[in-house]
Formats: sequence, structure tokens, C-alpha cells
Amino acid sequence: MASLSLSTLPSTTTTKNPLFSKSSPHLKQSNRFKVSCNAAANNNDKRVENFEAPKLILPKTTLEMQNVDRRNLLLGLGGLYGAANLASIPSAFGTPIAAPDNISDCVTASSNLQNSKDAVRGLACCPPVLSTDKPKDYVLPTNPVIRVRPAAQRATEEYVAKYKAAIQAMKDLPDEHPHSWKQQAKIHCAYCNGGYSQEQSGYPDIQLQIHNTWLFFPFHRWYLYFYERILGKLINDPTFALPYWNWDNPTGMVLPAMFEQDGKKNPIFDPYRDATHLPPAIFDVGYNGSDSGASCLDQIGSNLSLMYRQMLTNAPDTTTFFGGEFVAGNDPLKKEFNLAGSIEAGVHTAAHRWVGNPRMANNEDMGNFYSAGYDPLFYVHHANVDRMWKIWKDLGIQGHNEPTSPDWLDASYVFYDENEQLVRVYNRDSVNVQAMGYDYERSEIPWLHSRPIPHAKGANVAAKLAGVVQKVEDVKFPLKLNEIVKVLVKRPTKKRSKKDKGKANEMLFLNGIQFDGEEFVKLDVFVNDVDDGVATTAAESEFAGSFSQLPHGHKHGDKMLMSSGAAFGLTELLEDIEAEDDDSILVTFVPKIGCDDVTVSEIKIKLVPIV
Ligand code: C2O
Repeated sequence: MASLSLSTLPSTTTTKNPLFSKSSPHLKQSNRFKVSCNAAANNNDKRVENFEAPKLILPKTTLEMQNVDRRNLLLGLGGLYGAANLASIPSAFGTPIAAPDNISDCVTASSNLQNSKDAVRGLACCPPVLSTDKPKDYVLPTNPVIRVRPAAQRATEEYVAKYKAAIQAMKDLPDEHPHSWKQQAKIHCAYCNGGYSQEQSGYPDIQLQIHNTWLFFPFHRWYLYFYERILGKLINDPTFALPYWNWDNPTGMVLPAMFEQDGKKNPIFDPYRDATHLPPAIFDVGYNGSDSGASCLDQIGSNLSLMYRQMLTNAPDTTTFFGGEFVAGNDPLKKEFNLAGSIEAGVHTAAHRWVGNPRMANNEDMGNFYSAGYDPLFYVHHANVDRMWKIWKDLGIQGHNEPTSPDWLDASYVFYDENEQLVRVYNRDSVNVQAMGYDYERSEIPWLHSRPIPHAKGANVAAKLAGVVQKVEDVKFPLKLNEIVKVLVKRPTKKRSKKDKGKANEMLFLNGIQFDGEEFVKLDVFVNDVDDGVATTAAESEFAGSFSQLPHGHKHGDKMLMSSGAAFGLTELLEDIEAEDDDSILVTFVPKIGCDDVTVSEIKIKLVPIV
């Protein structure tokens, strides 16, 4: 089995490493995290020990906030990151989304899911009705004890035993109990696979959807909040906290050992996982549905660069990080100019698919939304997604703010709390984890220093292709992206001064991406990537990012067409490849999986003011 260890060896040592290759660019740079992978330890405990490099052992009580070394940040980011609030998408409606008071107004999830007859998890996801009382508005406990969520790879034996006991107790409840393992799993299916409508806001014919929009982070935060409190109550421990799957740190880039089958019955083991992705397989943040074949070192390098892109380059402002506005009356099937947040449409989707079992119908459990909640790992994955929200905000970069619109603040969901009380919770109460009574044990954030480096530098790439590659103004939209497509896109301005860059971010937008909602979709986007016979990797500057989607299941004709969008930061990318003076850029779309029906209705570079 491979083991990973982190060290701060001088860079010369690293460059002599035979595992080192061209595609590990960030490993070349000195003063960055050096990662070494070796095939040694063959026992789980040993492996866990090896993960815990001495430099990373920190007091469990030190909370995440201290992760962020602002001095390093300023150096690392060169002050280039300000951020912008995208002019938010105008909406004709403008009332917050609200889950129905009447939780029995819930329908069996609609779906054309292929192979659903072989599926082991059902689509009947409505919650049990305990009384006909309206949900109470939830009030956060005052002076809560802070539950500290540990990094799964460093959790103590004692902690793991407690966590397993709590899940076992949940599984022992009768299925119809609102706290049971099944009912908890169904919550996700109901909110995601069309169980609820927007009737509470006067749109009974429009589905409620919490993915691909600015509801993604807060909905899942609340979902985990109650799940954690229920587990704590089941074992009578008010300090119980969920672990987080620390996939953004090399020490956590394998499936946490506690989730493996261990001979005894392990309540957090799920048989519906991809058996080829058990340790020592390293998670791929850019997972396409097939293994990258990268060496351990290259995979870690690529993962860190992708995290850098998703947390910084492509998420400089509220909209690009949280996702587009979504208010009552918006139809998830039709909203042309919606936008999925960078983390949601990136590492979030990748981990779901990487864990789900490709041999099961619809990649159950984690690989599909209706079944994901059945795997205890779902909540541990989402704890790290939630941690990304906290880190993003704590970075303190201008523009890293939660939405302030009442349509976001007042959006609400309905859950059973740990006392089986039906409660309504609001986004506005989800912005401060300390006030909610939990926090994250700290873990190093090496991706902060993993700015991709260029594959090839050079000006005028687009100019040289004039007449060979189509210009965006000549494209007939919607443009099909079912094969490699290249387009030249004009920039609104060039030669931007430092001052200009401090005022606005230059971003590439793909608006109105339409895709089959029942497919796992992944599309990669490159800027000024010229074919030199060596493939450009995700750790290189020309790789702008991806758009990826987990299957949902929404009926719309024979196909389940859904609509979203994506944004990619260009300011730093163009600096890195020395193309700041160019009039236009070459954008290359590379469909990786599920893109047969993918089209885009607008490709545009915009300067988004930093506010
Ligand atoms: Cu609601 Cu990971 O999804």
C-alpha cells in the first residue's frame, strides 16, 4: 500500500525524485508543500500514522480560524485577489424559496433513472408526518457548547468508536422514525429529486431544488447540523461532532480508514461504494468517471491546483462561490442564466462520483443524488464541503461574502430537530458556525500555495489562429459541446494595470449550459492551450476549470434537461501565461463524460467589479 508523508525537504531533493514529472508543476517550486509518496506500509493503522506528519499535529482544540496565515496569504496571492460581487442576476420574482409547511405535500421523486428496477434505494422520499402542526421557527441555542469536527484521518480510536455507536443507534431505530438512517437519507432525495414544490410561495407547479444555486451551501449546512445533533442525542453526548473528510489536504486524500470493512460489522461501511477506490487509491478532485492513471505525486499536485482554482481563481465573489440566485418562481429546469458554484460543480461532484459504485444501478449510493444520503460518508464529505465555505469566508479577501439579499437570507427549509420537533430554518441563521455551536479542527491548507504554473507561455495565441478557429461572434448559439470545440473570444479590455485589476476581475462566463440531468456530466475548459504534443494537466495554468454535475432526475420530455452555468477567472491565468496584452483568447472545451446533449447559449468575458 502506498503511504503519503509530507515534509519540507529542499526542492532539490524533490526534483531528483524519480516520481517527479513535468506534470507536477507546483512541486517544482520551493517553499511549497513537498509531498512524497512511497509504497511501503501495508497496514491501516500504520498508514494513518504516516498520514499524520509531525508538522501537522496540532492541538485538537485549535480551531480552523487559525488556519489562515494572513501574511502567507498576502504573499501567496500577491494582493491580486480582490473579489467581486457579480451583478446578481435580475429576477422577475423575488421572494425567498420556502419548503412547504405541510411536509406531507411531497411526491415520490420523479425520475427516468436508467436501471431503476435494479436500484436498491427507492425514490419514495417523503418524510413521516408526526403531527399536523405547522413547523416552528427554529431558534439557535444560546451559548452552545462548541462541537469540534475532527479531520477523519486523525480521529482517535475513542472518537471513531463513538461515531460508529451513534450511526449504529440511528440504524437501529424503526425505519419510520424521523431520525432513522433511512429517513435521514431520504431528506436529501426529497429536496433534490423533485419531492417538494414551491407551493408555499405560490408556485405549486414548480419544483423546489437546492442544488446548482445559492441554496447549496446553506441547505447542506442545516442538513448536517440536525444530523449531527441527532447522532449526539442518540449516544447522549451533546459535544458529539461529525468528522470531516479532509480531501483538500494530501493527508486526507484517500477514503478515511474508519469507513472500510473491518471484519466486524462496521455501521459506517457501505457496500455500495467503488471497491477500486478503497485505500491506497488517491482521490481525484477532477474525477471524470475513469481513473486518471496519474502517479501518486501527480495526483496530489493536480488535486491541490484544482482546489486553488475552485477556492480562489474561479470563486472571487459571492455568486461564483455560492452559485446563482434562485428565488420563488424560478424553475430549475428552465432558468437560463443560472450558475453553479465552483465547489459544488467541482470537487463536490467529483467525490460523489468517485465513491459511488459504478457496478450499481445509477452509481448508488454516493454517485447519484437520490441515494447519496444512505452512505454515512456523504455527511463526512459534506462536512468538508461546509468547511470550504468557512475557509473561503475566513480568508478575509474582499468579495468573499455571503449573499446579502433578503431572498437568500430568508430562504428556508423544514427539518425534524433532535427532539422530533418539526422546525423551519433560515439561511440567515446559517452564516456563523460558532453561533450554530460547531467548528472544525484545524488542518493545513496547502492548496493556498498551489497556484498552477504555465504549460507554455506566449503572447498572441488567438491572433495566430484568426481565420482557422471560429470567433465567438460568428458562432450560432446554442453551441453543442459534445466534441472538442475551440472558440476565439474577444476581451473587453487588455493591458490592465494593477489598479484596474484591483477594481474588477476578468472572468469567462459560460451561460445557459444545458445538460441531461440524468447523466454524470463533466466538461473541461482550457484557455490558450495549443497542441504541442504534451497534454496540459489540471495543475497547469491553461486549465481554467471544469463544469461537472451529478445526476438529479427531473422529468422534462424524454430527457431530463437542466440548465446551469459556470465562471472561470482570467486575471491571474493570463498573467501566468503572459497573454495579458492579447485582444482575444482561445477557449477550448473538452467534453469528458455525459456531454452528448450539452449546449451553451452564451460565451462571454466580463469585467466584474470588486465590491
Ligand atoms: Cu445535496 Cu452532495 O449533494
